[in-house]
Amino acid sequence: MRTRPLKVALLGCGVVGSEVARIMTTHADDLAARIGAPVELAGVAVRRPGKVREGIDPALVTTDATALVKRGDIDVVVEVIGGIEPARTLITAAFEHGASVVSANKALLAQDGAALHAAAEENGKDLYYEAAVAGAIPLIRPLRESLAGDKVNRVLGIVNGTTNFILDKMDSTGAGYQEALDEATALGYAEADPTADVEGFDAAAKAAILAGIAFHTRVRLDDVYREGMTEVTAADFASAKEMGCTIKLLAICERAADGASVTARVHPAMIPLSHPLASVRGAYNAVFVESDAAGQLMFYGPGAGGSPTASAVLGDLVAVCRNRLSGATGPGESAYAALPVSPMGDVVTRYHISLDVADKPGVLAQVATVFAEHGVSIDTVRQQGKDGEASLVVVTHRASDAALNGTVEALRSLDTVRGVASIMRVEGE
Ligand code: HSE
Repeated sequence: MRTRPLKVALLGCGVVGSEVARIMTTHADDLAARIGAPVELAGVAVRRPGKVREGIDPALVTTDATALVKRGDIDVVVEVIGGIEPARTLITAAFEHGASVVSANKALLAQDGAALHAAAEENGKDLYYEAAVAGAIPLIRPLRESLAGDKVNRVLGIVNGTTNFILDKMDSTGAGYQEALDEATALGYAEADPTADVEGFDAAAKAAILAGIAFHTRVRLDDVYREGMTEVTAADFASAKEMGCTIKLLAICERAADGASVTARVHPAMIPLSHPLASVRGAYNAVFVESDAAGQLMFYGPGAGGSPTASAVLGDLVAVCRNRLSGATGPGESAYAALPVSPMGDVVTRYHISLDVADKPGVLAQVATVFAEHGVSIDTVRQQGKDGEASLVVVTHRASDAALNGTVEALRSLDTVRGVASIMRVEGE
């Protein structure tokens, strides 16, 4: 074994960074044996230097992250500060000054992954980011390496634990969205400002990263269609139950049937209780992958938290350190397929539409005609009437999102349709 240690700079020492530092210390011998050289924490960049950080030598702590990444003797920079800047500038500087990078930064990778990969490649360095998607769950490496010989057609995932906790609560207790969110906040699952989670931004960034790797195509955050889950109601769950379904916030990356394009989207959807993703409870994450040769695969585990995320970071650190020792680099960006990313209107799926209508002769025929005129085929219709008004639930066969939107617009203009109570896509069948 080499005795000269590989030097690691840690950018950020919060929930994840402090766990990375702790495991690097407590598992030092095992890590050295697995890598073939010891790894040494050579510097820790933080915003608040005065804070006591158990197990970290205060002499290593600095507020000057730029100077740390530019030192020239750093082998690996571990970036766990998150956000776009200064992370982007620091990572780029790290490559230019001889370091490889391990990052957990989904927002940055989703927005600027191509430029960062290019900077890594220009400088002959590694960029690894297993922790950026679904915390501890090995997903990036299986997609990038284990499935490199297969053809992935679909990635369907629960990639946000906060929203899964909220939806699971609504499902199991009949609670409304706000009540379930309040509980998630009280238990520390939801942030004080939960927007990134509940509006689907976090999941959309992960979808962009997964789609890019799965389809060997650049997929940027802006390419991902996004709907949050704040409008999901207890009534939606009741309807889902009647259909033998539950509701999940899903990240869905798909290759079109003709293989010529891809789509990526995040929105709440009904899925059958028989689907493996339906049984993913609480704040857990899971990703279901469908490929030509392997068939169906499911990856499951904790998608957030200091220790689980640190597990993924440490796995990358070991891989990158091994590459340093062998003088090699791991796989970089694979975007050779360059498939176009189609808009949401081209997505084809099933829909569950809940309408409030007048309960009088001809209304059902009128509604059915609108569906027919837009080429949307009805699978089932359920009606419940009361005092001259009725609730009509229509479940469609597969149709394009554009056709469904046209249908709903036309339905809204009918006098007999009092309102469109909810529209929910039905996935995983
Ligand atoms: N806030 C995310 C979640 C974890 O709730 O899953 C970090 O991506």
